[in-house]
Amino acid sequence: MKNKIIAGNWKMNKNQEQTIAFINDLKPLVKDTKNTVIICTPYLDLEQAVCLTAGTNIHVGAQNCHWAESGAFTGEVAPSMLKEIGVEYVIIGHSERRQYFGETNKTVNARTKAALEAGLKPIVCIGETLQERESGKMEEVLASQIKEGFEGIDEEQLRRTIVAYEPVWAIGTGVTATNKQANDAIAFCRKQFVELYGNDEAQKLYIQYGGSMNASNASGLLLQSEIDGGLIGGASLDAEKFATVVNAHKN
Ligand code: PGA
Repeated sequence: MKNKIIAGNWKMNKNQEQTIAFINDLKPLVKDTKNTVIICTPYLDLEQAVCLTAGTNIHVGAQNCHWAESGAFTGEVAPSMLKEIGVEYVIIGHSERRQYFGETNKTVNARTKAALEAGLKPIVCIGETLQERESGKMEEVLASQIKEGFEGIDEEQLRRTIVAYEPVWAIGTGVTATNKQANDAIAFCRKQFVELYGNDEAQKLYIQYGGSMNASNASGLLLQSEIDGGLIGGASLDAEKFATVVNAHKN
């Protein structure tokens, strides 16, 4: 089994002072893990987070980036700007961005490509809504999110990309997918990557689960054969709880 990649998605939480306190608390708690630890902070906390985590095993990610290198895109941030300040990862296509900010598979694809071209490692989010699951459309939705979201992305780029399967009905709701639901959905996603990139690449690809993952359910989810890590929202805001998720799986 692979070591896991555990990423915290702070969403629109934590000011600079809280960022400093969190990182100082987290550092000793995760220093011995073999899993990869990432915190995805608001833009304004990134530079601080990069400085404070230098020389540690904690990596820093943003929560979005634009697809253009520069230009008239008021309020947006280019991938190269993130790269310049030492950011390594970037979440793309989170369901909240799809829901509230008009993100589509096409814009996810454009942002992912731009992030890769700038040398960032994207964490590309996919997942079905409750209505889509209940009406039997889950597989169709996931298949098109993958096909359209990864169009034109080559094998080398795929190796620098992480996928997060996050069923929308489990995000921030306290309802976690069961271990089996999460494992089955991720197995289905991996099958799509087998078709697009071949078995070898698809097996190497990291696919995380996200959606109400926390200190109590993490170890069960991370034991599943298809689940290569977690994207953690609410439970990533507290250093101790987040560390428990990070340390939940040992190879
Ligand atoms: P949650 O969020 O852990 O609070 O459900 C996960 C996410 O949105 O990435």
